[in-house]
Amino acid sequence: MAGGCYIKNRVKYKVVGISAKVPYRSGYPDIIQIRREVIMTILRKAILATTVAGTALSIVAALSFTAAAAVERISYKDDVFPILQIRCLGCHQPGGEGYKKSGLDLRTYKSLMKGTKFGAIVIPGSALTSNLNVLVEGRANMSIRMPHNKKKLTKCEIAILRQWVNQGAKKN
Ligand code: HEC
Repeated sequence: MAGGCYIKNRVKYKVVGISAKVPYRSGYPDIIQIRREVIMTILRKAILATTVAGTALSIVAALSFTAAAAVERISYKDDVFPILQIRCLGCHQPGGEGYKKSGLDLRTYKSLMKGTKFGAIVIPGSALTSNLNVLVEGRANMSIRMPHNKKKLTKCEIAILRQWVNQGAKKN
C-alpha cells in the first residue's frame, strides 16, 4: 500500500516533466498537388501517434523511475518536507500559533529534529512512539491531532511520514 501511496505523492509534489517530441514538419514540394493533402493527412496522423506514444513513454518512464525509488528510501527533502511545508508550516514557524504554543518550528530538518520546547517529536526508527506520527495519525487526544483543526493528512502522507521515521529519519 505504502508503495502506491508513495508514487502518488511523488507525482503530486514533484514536477514530472513530460515533454513530447513533435517531429519537424517539412514543407512539401508542390509537384504532386493532389497527393499533397493525402500526404499531409498521413503525416498529421503520424505526428499525433508519435506524440501520444512519446507522452505515454514518458509517463511509463517517470512511473517506473518512482517505482524503483519506492523500494529504496523515503527522502526528507523530496517526500517529507513538501508535506510539512504544505500542511504544517502555516502554524509552525515563528509567528504561527503552533510555534507560539509548542515551540515547534518545522522549517528545517534541524528544527524538526529539535522538536517542541518539551522535547523531540521524532524518535528515529520508531514511528510508533514518535509524537510526530502519533499526532498526525490521530492516536493522541483529538484536540491535538495535527494539522490542528484542519483536514487530516491523507493515508499516503501519513504512510510517508511513518516510513521515513521507521527508516531512521535521515536527512536525505
Ligand atoms: C492551524 C494551525 C496548525 C497547523 C496547520 C498545524 N499545527 Fe501543530 N500545533 C498547533 C497548535 C496550536 C499547537 C499547540 C497545541 C496545544 O498544545 O494545545 C500545535 C502543536 C503541535 C505539536 C506538539 C504537540 C505537543 O504538545 O506535544 C506537534 C508535534 C505538531 N503540532 C505537529 C504538527 C504537524 C506535523 C503539522 C502538520 C501535519 C501541524 N502540527 C500543523 C497548530 C497547528
